[in-house]
Amino acid sequence: MEKKASGPLRCLVTGAAGFVGSHLCEGLLALGHTVAGVDNFFSGRRENLDPFASHPRFFFHERSITEPGLLEDLHKAHGPFHTVFHLAAIVSVPYSVEHPEETYHVNERATVRLLNDAEKLGVRSFVFAGSAAEYGIQDRMPLRESNAGDGTRWLSPYGEAKYRATMAVASRRRRPRGVSLRCFNIYGPRQDPSSPYSGVISRFVDMAVAGRPLTVFGDGLQTRDFVFVDDVVEAYRHAAASADESANGPCGIYNVGSGRPTAIVDLARLICRLTERPESITFCAERPGDIRHSTASIEAISRDLGWAPRIGLEQGLRRTIQWMRGAAQPTGVKASPDGDGSENKPRREL
Ligand code: UD1
Repeated sequence: MEKKASGPLRCLVTGAAGFVGSHLCEGLLALGHTVAGVDNFFSGRRENLDPFASHPRFFFHERSITEPGLLEDLHKAHGPFHTVFHLAAIVSVPYSVEHPEETYHVNERATVRLLNDAEKLGVRSFVFAGSAAEYGIQDRMPLRESNAGDGTRWLSPYGEAKYRATMAVASRRRRPRGVSLRCFNIYGPRQDPSSPYSGVISRFVDMAVAGRPLTVFGDGLQTRDFVFVDDVVEAYRHAAASADESANGPCGIYNVGSGRPTAIVDLARLICRLTERPESITFCAERPGDIRHSTASIEAISRDLGWAPRIGLEQGLRRTIQWMRGAAQPTGVKASPDGDGSENKPRREL
C-alpha cells in the first residue's frame, strides 16, 4: 500500500541535540515539517544543533523531559503536534548502573507521563527510542521482537527501563498510536568518540584517522548489527506514518538494524582499509559484561512499515570517516541507495 499524501506537519523531537535526534530534526525540516526540539544538554551537544538552529521552522527549548507540564506548554506555544518523537533519555549504560533510580525516573516514568499528556492533547503518533538493550542476555540470533519479555535478564537498569517504557508505548493503539523502535548499534556523523563507552565505530574511526592502533576487546569475533543513522531517521518517519493506519494493525515494537552480524575484528580491518592505513590492531582484554552476539531480525519492520536499510556498512563508514576528517558532510535523509534493491519497495513515510 502506498502512503497517503501528507502535508507539512508539526512535530516534537525530544533529545534534539543528541546524535540521532539532531539528524532526525534535520531530516524532518528538509521535508518541510515544523519541528520543536527539546534538550537539556545532559548528553546532547549544542554544536549538533548548529546546522539547523536558525532554520525558520525549528524552535528550540532547553528543558528537561522530567518537567511536569512540558508537553502542555509546548502545545500552547506551537499548537497541536502530529507526532512526538521521544528520544531524550539517559543514554549511558554504565551511568544507568551507577544511577538506577534516576534512570527509571527519566527513561521509564517520564516517558509514561509524556505518553499520557500526548493522549490528552490529541497527538496522533508517539514514536519512542527503544533499544536492543531491552533483549538482555539471549542465546538465539537473530533477535525477534517477542524475545524480550518480563522474564528477560537485563544487563542494566538502562535495558530494563527501556523495555518497560517500550511496553507502555506499544500498548497505545490510537491517538496516540505508539511505536517503539528498538535500535541496534547506530553509527554515523556526530557520534561522539570521546568516552570509553562510545560506540565502537566512532572509536575505531577516531583512532584510525588519528593514526593510532585500533583496540579490539577480546578475540574480536563477537558480532554486532550496525545501522547507519540516516536509515534510523527513515525508520522514525515510517513509524510516525503508521499512525494513519488501523488501530487493529501491527504491534508497535520494531527492531531497527541491518539484519546482518559483523565481527568486530572484521570491522577494524575494514576501517583500516577505508582510511588507507596499514592494519594496526591491538587486542586487549575482553570488556566485562560484553555480550557475544547481537543481530536484529528486521522482518517485522520491513513487512509492516515497508522499511529496509539502504546504506551498507562500507558506504556508511566512508561517510563517517569523511565527517571525522572534518569534511562537512550533508546528512539527513537524502542518502542514495546502496544497491540492495530496497529502494524499489513501496515506502510509507512521514
Ligand atoms: C552497548 C553500549 C554499552 C553497554 C552494552 C551492554 C553503545 C555504544 N554501547 O554496547 O555502553 O555496556 O551495550 O548493554 O550503545 N569494542 C572494541 N573496542 C573498542 C570499543 C568497543 O573491541 O574500542 C567492542 C566491544 O567490546 C563490543 C563491540 O565492540 O564487543 C561493540 O561495542 P559498543 O559499540 O560499545 O556496543 P555494545 O557492546 O553493543
